[in-house]
Amino acid sequence: MRGGDAREAAEEMFAPPPFYFTFLTFYYIILPMKIADGWKDYKIIATGDGMKLERWGDVVLLRPDPQVIWRSSRDLYACGDINAVYIRSSKGGGKWEYRRPVPEEWTVSYGDLSFIVKPMGFKHTGLFPEQAANWDMMRSLIEGRAAVSGKGPVKVLNLFAYTGGASVACAKSGALVTHVDAAKGMVERAGRNARLSGIESGIRYIVDDCFKFVKKEIRRGNRYDAVIMDPPSYGRGPGGEMWRMEDDIFDFVTTCMQVLCDDPLFMLINSYTTGLHPTVIKNILTLAAAGRAADCTAYELGLPTEEGICLPCGCSGIAVF
Ligand SMILES: C[S@@+](CC[C@H](N)C(=O)[O-])C[C@H]1O[C@@H](n2cnc3c(N)ncnc32)[C@H](O)[C@@H]1O
Repeated sequence: MRGGDAREAAEEMFAPPPFYFTFLTFYYIILPMKIADGWKDYKIIATGDGMKLERWGDVVLLRPDPQVIWRSSRDLYACGDINAVYIRSSKGGGKWEYRRPVPEEWTVSYGDLSFIVKPMGFKHTGLFPEQAANWDMMRSLIEGRAAVSGKGPVKVLNLFAYTGGASVACAKSGALVTHVDAAKGMVERAGRNARLSGIESGIRYIVDDCFKFVKKEIRRGNRYDAVIMDPPSYGRGPGGEMWRMEDDIFDFVTTCMQVLCDDPLFMLINSYTTGLHPTVIKNILTLAAAGRAADCTAYELGLPTEEGICLPCGCSGIAVF
C-alpha cells in the first residue's frame, strides 16, 4: 500500500461509526477507544469492587481487574452461575476456587477463529478478548494489501506472541506469520489454537528472547511486512534475558523498524501496562519510524459490559506505512 492509500485506509479505520447514539457510540466518539464488541462466546456480565464477572462460552468466571475501582451494584460473589473465582493471596499471587465443575480447558470462537480457554496462574485464561479489535484491524490491512499488491503473502512477525491470538488472526487472512515467545508452553498452545482455527501451515513457531531474535533476523537479512508486539511490564527470555518495559521499549521498537521491508504495511504495539498512555505509544512509534510511516495512531482498547459501561483494557498504537 502506498502512502496515500495507507492514509485513506487509516482515516477510514479510525472514523466514527454511523451516527446512532448508543452509549458505546458515545464512548467511541468522545474517547479514542476501540471496543471489541463482536464477541458472541464472551461477555462481561458485571464489574465492581476490583472484580469482573465474565462468561466464557458456558463457563462463568469471577476474577480481579485492577481497573475496576468502582463499587458493584450487586454482590458479584452471589451470582449463582459462577463456576470459578480467582482469590488473591495476601502473600502475592492467588488461586482459582471452583464452585461448579469446570472442564480443564474449553473452546470459544470469534468469527472464524477458535481458541482454547483454560484457567491458569496469575488469573489468566490464555486469551485477551479485547485484542479482537486489533485482530479485525490487522486482518483488514493484510487482506487489503493482498488484494492490491500482487506480491506474495504478507509476512508478519509477532513478538511476545503468547498463545497466538494475533498470529492466528493474521494467518487466517493469508499472512505468513513468525510467532516468537519465551515460554515453550505458550508457543505450543498457539499451535493448538491455530489448528483449532483450521490453520495447518503458515505459522513458524519460535521459542526465543524477542530482542535477540529480532537482531538475528536483521543480521540474517530476513525482513517482514508487519511487526506486532505485546510486551509485558516485566519479563524474561528463555535464557533469563531481562525485559523491562520503560527501559527497553523505545530501543526495541527502533530496532524492529530495521526488520521491516522497504515497503512495509504496519507496526502494532499493544500494552496492558497501566500508565503507558496512548500518547506515549504514539510518540514512540512516530519517533522510531522517523518519517517513514504514513500515519501513527494510538488508542485505548475496551470491552463492553452488560451494565452499559466499557472496561478499559490497556492501549495500542499502530504505524501504517
Ligand atoms: C502479555 S503476554 C502477550 C499477550 C498476547 N500477545 C495476546 O494478545 O494474546 C506477554 C508474553 O511475553 C512473553 N515474554 C516475556 N518476556 C519475553 C522475552 N524477553 N522474550 C520473548 N517473550 C517474552 C511471555 O512469555 C508472554 O507470553
